[in-house]
Amino acid sequence: MVYLDNAATTFPKPREVIKETESAMRELCGNPGRGSHRAAAAAAERVYRCRETAGSFFGAPPENVVLTCNATAALNIAIKGYARDGGRILISDMEHNSVLRPAARAAEERGAELLNYETFPGDDGRTVEGIRKLIKPGSTVVVASHMSNICGRILPIAEIGELCRDSDCVFVVDGSQSAGRLKIDVSGMKIDALCVPGHKGLYGPQGTGLLVLGNVGHGLPRTLTEGGSGLNSIDITMPDDPPERYEAGTLNSPGAAGLSAGIEWVGRVGIDRISEHEDRLCRMFRESIAEIPGVTVYSDEGGPVALFGVAGKSPAGIGAFLDGRGICVRSGLHCAPLAHKTLGTAPGGAVRASFGFFNTASDVKKAVDAVRRVAAL
Ligand code: ALA
Repeated sequence: MVYLDNAATTFPKPREVIKETESAMRELCGNPGRGSHRAAAAAAERVYRCRETAGSFFGAPPENVVLTCNATAALNIAIKGYARDGGRILISDMEHNSVLRPAARAAEERGAELLNYETFPGDDGRTVEGIRKLIKPGSTVVVASHMSNICGRILPIAEIGELCRDSDCVFVVDGSQSAGRLKIDVSGMKIDALCVPGHKGLYGPQGTGLLVLGNVGHGLPRTLTEGGSGLNSIDITMPDDPPERYEAGTLNSPGAAGLSAGIEWVGRVGIDRISEHEDRLCRMFRESIAEIPGVTVYSDEGGPVALFGVAGKSPAGIGAFLDGRGICVRSGLHCAPLAHKTLGTAPGGAVRASFGFFNTASDVKKAVDAVRRVAAL
């Protein structure tokens, strides 16, 4: 089997991640924050280690690291929780439905305007100027996907952060594809809310994600979910402070344990080494399939994601053919119809091959060979 769907979730996971996740189920691990006995304390320790590891990885104090079940849950808290009545929500033309849908709902609920800004690969200044023109100072939430899930396009996060800080806007970043591959520093990049999955470039288990709060000068986002937090049980409202303010209900302690191990593993291997390896394999794949008659590569922006199609074949048909030869890719719209529209590949979508640290040059060779066969049919 050749797994080329790492943009959906990385596979396999490092041995250390499996060991830590399993140890949180085999060894003493009660319900973190619920009770003061040793089992609850052991679980709380694992959860705290995850906050500390993630906080130091993303440049935030541990108490600003909120554990969620995925990046989408974090984006829902940040976008809906920060949207202002009658304000504006600006999203890029490359967003995934994890941004588009909560932004649309927040705009409807708050009577806010939802607007798209254009992205210009190779001209970051133009992207930032486009955002500047749409900002209503003081009542705008700007959302940017750091790296596109369909073509690897990278947005200038530090520059957009600067603009947002100067214009008193809230800045929300979707780091779903970049976390673990590109350096992210919430304070240096002036990010108010960074939303990341644990199970992609951080190599943690599925069902894990993080909301990392940066500057809280805008105040904290409203809560989206209420319930038990283990703190001030007599109060009818959630605690005032993060992280517990956003963590109603029992946390995924085994997931948190695995996620800490994943982040530590990424730190040890090094994000530069990871991204160089993935980018090199993806470039080899893109360049090789581009020479096959009938194949169109839709994006050449670098990164670990290749988007392509074959003349006369549906993306679903190509995906099924490749799966039949043991090659796992994802076809269709990749939950990102807006981004496909921007690239000109909507409504049918395309085929995506996405690379991870455990892929090899031999995987590329096998996948290219399978694409050659499907193109020749
Ligand atoms: N967002 C994930 C993807 O791009 C699931 O496939």
